[in-house]
Amino acid sequence: MDADENEELLADGGMTRVVRIGDTVRRPVRPYTATVHAYLRHLHQQGVDVVPEPRGYDGQGREVLSYVPGDVPVEPLPEWATQEEVLVVLARLLRRVHDAADGWAPPADAVWGSIPGAPPPGVVPLFEVPELVAHSDYCPGNVVFRNGLPAALVDFDLARPTTRVADCANALYWWAPLLHPVDRAPALTTSDAAARVRMFADAYRLDAQQRADLVPVARRRIRNAVLVMRAAAQVDPVFRRWWEEGVKDRLPRAEAWLAEEGDRIQSLLLD
Ligand SMILES: Nc1ncnc2c1ncn2[C@@H]1O[C@H](COP(=O)(O)OP(=O)(O)OP(=O)(O)O)[C@@H](O)[C@H]1O
Ligand SMILES: [Mg+2]
Repeated sequence: MDADENEELLADGGMTRVVRIGDTVRRPVRPYTATVHAYLRHLHQQGVDVVPEPRGYDGQGREVLSYVPGDVPVEPLPEWATQEEVLVVLARLLRRVHDAADGWAPPADAVWGSIPGAPPPGVVPLFEVPELVAHSDYCPGNVVFRNGLPAALVDFDLARPTTRVADCANALYWWAPLLHPVDRAPALTTSDAAARVRMFADAYRLDAQQRADLVPVARRRIRNAVLVMRAAAQVDPVFRRWWEEGVKDRLPRAEAWLAEEGDRIQSLLLD
């Protein structure tokens, strides 16, 4: 039945073949797909319409989600995606989704996605107790823009129990960004990362404790990312390609840069 319809290939970057059919997208089913659908259903029941709506499965065994209109930027971030207003709107978007997710109890048989490979030694959890389920992967390709501003999120493959601060640290890694200047988009090479983190924190309305936790969590996150991505590169060809193409340099540089700049970011956050 679906073969008769017009399939438009949206992405096949290695991980996921995503096609559009009319006002839906189809993606391969994974062990965690049913859990993600339950989560997305909950968000929609809470009135959060900035995430795809789950619509079950098609005749080819793919998941069906609503098509989210808009544009996703690709790296390096184009100038329009680096405006301060983008950070502010993204922070408010996260806040809205977090507030709606807070209190949702995942099904008892919940399954969560993860990066390939067993957790390598040295990875330290970012929190003791999760607060909520959140997206956890705000790379540019997962943030849909309309009229030049973040309007929706897609790709909940890494959604999982986390904390507000850990999830904000993920978004800030990509969008502040928490990267060494040589690894940033040209428009952000000389930008003040601390000021941008502060802007995001204010727009999200992080409280005093969350502000105090943000930099330590971001530092632990980047340390974990170095270990996890290196381990994934050893077991998965797509991750190996990403690692070799630059992740192997970018992540350790980000870690070193944040070790250097962390105190300054923290003081501005707490100021
Ligand atoms: N529900 C959706 N509505 C509109 N576009 C979508 C939707 N889901 C995915 N896309 C588009 O397809 C692209 C890739 O999809 P997605 O992020 O879900 O998979 P991925 O695992 O990151 O894929 P890959 O790593 O292979 O690019 C997105 O960047 C976006 O452009
Ligand atoms: Mg994606």
